[in-house]
Amino acid sequence: MSIPFIDLKSQQARVRGKIDAGLAAVLDHGSYIMGPEIPALETRLAEWSGAKHNISCSSGTDALLLALRGLDLKPGQGVIVPSFTFAASAEVMPVMGAIPVFADVDPSTFNIDHTQLDDAREAARSANVEVVGVISVGLFGQPANLEALMKYAMMNNLWLIDDAAQSFGASLNRQKVGSLAHVTCTSFFPAKPLGCYGDGGAVFTDDDNIADIIRSCRIHGMGKDKYQNVRIGMTGRLDTIQAVVLDAKLDIFDEELALRQQVADRYHDLIGNIVETPQIALGATSSWAQYTIKLPSNVDRDEVCMTMQGLGIPTAIYYPVPMHQQPPYQSFPIARGKLEITEKLSRNVISLPMHPYLDEETQHLVIDGLKKSLEKR
Ligand SMILES: Cc1ncc(COP(=O)(O)O)c(C=O)c1O
Repeated sequence: MSIPFIDLKSQQARVRGKIDAGLAAVLDHGSYIMGPEIPALETRLAEWSGAKHNISCSSGTDALLLALRGLDLKPGQGVIVPSFTFAASAEVMPVMGAIPVFADVDPSTFNIDHTQLDDAREAARSANVEVVGVISVGLFGQPANLEALMKYAMMNNLWLIDDAAQSFGASLNRQKVGSLAHVTCTSFFPAKPLGCYGDGGAVFTDDDNIADIIRSCRIHGMGKDKYQNVRIGMTGRLDTIQAVVLDAKLDIFDEELALRQQVADRYHDLIGNIVETPQIALGATSSWAQYTIKLPSNVDRDEVCMTMQGLGIPTAIYYPVPMHQQPPYQSFPIARGKLEITEKLSRNVISLPMHPYLDEETQHLVIDGLKKSLEKR
């Protein structure tokens, strides 16, 4: 017996009819690039999230790059970003010749600690780097403290990008992720809470000017028509067939988010007394992209993973090496010179199977496996 870490098959069975019909329509009309399904999806995503503009694109990483183009990030400028994240959140700065400035995270939410922003700017100043913005990450599904971050950004003339690759679908004080920062980016990588069947992503903003620049950059810096190039751009479009998949999955997204919450609640009730389960901040909801627990410090994490694997239960480590310790990133500024929480989390977190279709019986098997692997010590 092997338990899936995520279950895209059960989901597909629910939306297959609509996807098949949508794909057939694309094959008939033949507009594989920027077909009518693209603006239709963008209108739907903007309405769903409450953001004024949605611009679909080729991946979550390209969404971040497009956002930075929209905000006119220049080579040599600095952007504060948490080190405890997936590479893309920090990678996009050096790709543009700019500098990531690493900050630590809050130990209970895994998200950027907004009280460290002054320290991050100080570290940048010491390296002669001017900080122009912040990228927050809604790691594992819960948004960062976007209220505090926006307040800080406004007071200090900075912009805020929310990397919601994992937290699209979440909310803060009843407002959905998408319009809680100057620009919000997400990924439609298949394993994400809202995923397509390949690479895809989107940018959300309420700012007309930023939206115009991003739309232009997405297609080689196009102007009024596609052979007029008014700025340097890229190939950043979402495929029409991916829009079909996303449109079908959006039909059941609300329900899936509620199911993920049920799975998270069950984990919390059943293992909250033996490991540290995720804490959701007051007023926030999570899209539960991952269910990530913290193991006690005297537990050998590799051994736990191996024992669980032997029982047919998959686990994952997100992320074993923080960004500031990865070789290409080691020379960039670090708030306070050391990121203690980030380093500790990268040693003791472990993610358990999480998806909307994880039934109670299977979840009990996961929990029993975890208990057994902890008892083995
Ligand atoms: C936090 C975060 N940001 C950005 C990305 C990049 O998304 P993509 O793989 O679609 O480029 C990911 C993907 O895993 C992510 O988890």
